[in-house]
Amino acid sequence: MLEALLETERLGRARSHANEIWDCIGSTNTRAAELASEGAPEGVFVVARQQTAGRGRLGRTWVSPPDAGLYISVILRPTTPPYKLPVITLACGVAAAEAIASVSRVRVGLKWVNDLIVDGRKLGGILAEMPANTATSALPAAIVVGIGINVELDPDQIPPDLKDTITWLSRIDCQPPDRNLLAARLLTRVEKVYDQMLAGEISEILDRWRALSVTLGKNVRTESSGKTIEGTAIDIDDSGALIVETSTGIRQTLHAGEISIRTPEGRYC
Ligand code: BTN
Repeated sequence: MLEALLETERLGRARSHANEIWDCIGSTNTRAAELASEGAPEGVFVVARQQTAGRGRLGRTWVSPPDAGLYISVILRPTTPPYKLPVITLACGVAAAEAIASVSRVRVGLKWVNDLIVDGRKLGGILAEMPANTATSALPAAIVVGIGINVELDPDQIPPDLKDTITWLSRIDCQPPDRNLLAARLLTRVEKVYDQMLAGEISEILDRWRALSVTLGKNVRTESSGKTIEGTAIDIDDSGALIVETSTGIRQTLHAGEISIRTPEGRYC
């Protein structure tokens, strides 16, 4: 069904390797990494109706009940120099926001570095990983881009600590989109933005990220090497790193990690 809806030129269309569509799997990212280490080419994807060991960034669990979300991972093998790769996460955030807008009335904001946000709650996220031992004599090393989007969660399926912080498409827009259509649109957008990245059109991608950002201009806080940095998120640089200006005017560049955004009530979340 998903493959019948594909409008991509390359993603999902590898001749030598089939895409994998699972009812239940541990993690689509883990499976895609296995396939990449066995030599699967760019474009092969793994999608599942349920994950039993879905992973988020920073070692977190990604709640993945059956038929409640889109859980998909795609193998990319970029030829760009490694220092340009961090942009992939931001680029896929843009792709996900655009794909969601194409199948629903939901307008997603992007929180640096990889969160899809609606009304201050997390709707989805991107986990880009570089698994070891995936380069072959013919193929550059792989990046596995995993995307999780909450579509139709039952509140009983949500762990108590996430109840007030996450959201899902049917909660925002009563008609949840078809998950196969969402996946197909997502792959189309990922392919477009990835091709732009390969063509060096980074500033165009970053401008789209800026336009969708719910981070820039906000007061943010982050912990880095045991140190707290607080200030205004003023921009992202060419590598996608976040530039934060503290109250004393010092500019810090954050390359990784997680930020909290200050709410109008003065809380950070
Ligand atoms: C995050 O925001 O922390 C990233 C979440 C990424 C979740 C997706 S679901 C599909 C893929 N498989 C995984 O185990 N994780 C990613």
